[in-house]
Amino acid sequence: MEATPNPVKVHEVCRVAPPPISPDSAVPTSLPLIFFDLFWVKCPPVQRIFFFEASHPTTTFLDSVLPKLKHSLSLTPQHYLVLAGNLTWPPNSYKPIIQYIEGDDAVSLTIAESEADFYHLSSNSFRKVKEIHPFLPLFISSDTQAPLMTLQITLFPNKGFSIGYAAHHAVLDGKTTALFMHSWASICRRGGDSTLTEEETPFYDRTSIKDPDDHEKTYINFLFELNGPNNKSLMIWDMNAPTDTMLGTFQLTRADIENMKRRVKNQWQEKQKREPAIHVSSFTITSAYVWVCLVKAKKISTGKVHLGFSVDCRARLEPPLPSTYFGNCLSGQQINADSNDLIGEDGVATAVKAIGEAIESLKEEAVKEFQVSKLFSIDKDRLFTIGGSPRFELYNTDFGWGRPRKVEMTSIDKSGAFSLSDCRDGNGGLEIGIVLKKHETEAFASLFASGLQVH
Ligand SMILES: *[C@@H]1O[C@H](CO)[C@@H](O)[C@H](O)[C@H]1NC(C)=O
Ligand SMILES: *[C@@H]1O[C@H](CO)[C@@H](O)[C@H](O)[C@H]1NC(C)=O
Repeated sequence: MEATPNPVKVHEVCRVAPPPISPDSAVPTSLPLIFFDLFWVKCPPVQRIFFFEASHPTTTFLDSVLPKLKHSLSLTPQHYLVLAGNLTWPPNSYKPIIQYIEGDDAVSLTIAESEADFYHLSSNSFRKVKEIHPFLPLFISSDTQAPLMTLQITLFPNKGFSIGYAAHHAVLDGKTTALFMHSWASICRRGGDSTLTEEETPFYDRTSIKDPDDHEKTYINFLFELNGPNNKSLMIWDMNAPTDTMLGTFQLTRADIENMKRRVKNQWQEKQKREPAIHVSSFTITSAYVWVCLVKAKKISTGKVHLGFSVDCRARLEPPLPSTYFGNCLSGQQINADSNDLIGEDGVATAVKAIGEAIESLKEEAVKEFQVSKLFSIDKDRLFTIGGSPRFELYNTDFGWGRPRKVEMTSIDKSGAFSLSDCRDGNGGLEIGIVLKKHETEAFASLFASGLQVH
């Protein structure tokens, strides 16, 4: 065993409380979960790390940068009071609720410092996930409660700092977490002015969301199946990444995506004599391409493989919800394909068609339930999933020290998903986070690169 000394020195773990609630505040202190949220109650938190380059020595950081980050963090929850609270499931409640208790609750923030190699950690090359974990905050749930969001700020003296978060998916989907980060960054950048624009302000009204098929009951029953009858445990699943898991980042430029779209359309015309009536988006192309590369890198050549992903349906509901809706609003999709088709010459075109059709089907039925029982019956090695979205615009998170050098969705190490995000240079390309076992990384990198050279 190689001994890895912990590269992080923790300065303090503080509790950042929101200011007193003003009497005219309309921000709720409590929210019931709805069916969109319930699917995620037992899932491990979503974790991301934002790396910011800044050449502050320790003293400047502690005296000037950190107070600004902390002060703005204390102001932000007045727009997100529940985030300072907990998820609980009171004995007399049919379903779990989120609750903020003024005076009691606060956001947990760890302040740390590290001599680890900032540029290596924030690079695109494959890194061991255990090298990255020390920069993420603890997130501890119990049978009776779970936090909603925990944070860690780590200084890398004279190089930069990182902000890591863990967010409970039963309370926030990616869109909501991105909204929170944008709100916090905006308040910090503007020197602590806590007014937010409408695009930065969360929207809490869930009363317009209908559930005619009682998905809520399905999910609550599912929780009781997992825990035992009437067991309201909120303990999240303890999932750990295998020790040799590596995390790497790949990019597709705007031009790569356009080339691939053209190639796929040509293949449809030549071989299948007609184009399927689907919209070929950057999301579809990228997901299809990565899925195919992963199936090949893992040398799966017989039998079925599956791709699970979620689609934001705020705009698809009737009536639609604003993009600032606070909570989960995701529709689950799962597609199946023959691995043999995917690794063949038209593999990407086949995958694009399947993904495109799944998204197209949402026009008819926006709310597709995540079929939990089905997901569990699938062989994990054959189930590929997607996390994140370029639409979160995470590279637009500027606290006043410029765009992040790197944003990494680290929680894919447990789920085995690949992640999608916007690119740092903001030119319409996409960034893809990949987790693989060490021995699969080279094959993936070479498949990914060589597939782009075909025109
Ligand atoms: C929420 O959790 C924190 C930390 O565990 C605790 O101090 C606080 O009392 C909890 N609040 C509620 C409403 O349970
Ligand atoms: C309820 O379920 C949790 C795990 O989900 C378990 O740890 C706990 O012991 C269970 N409680 C009871 C009373 O069975």
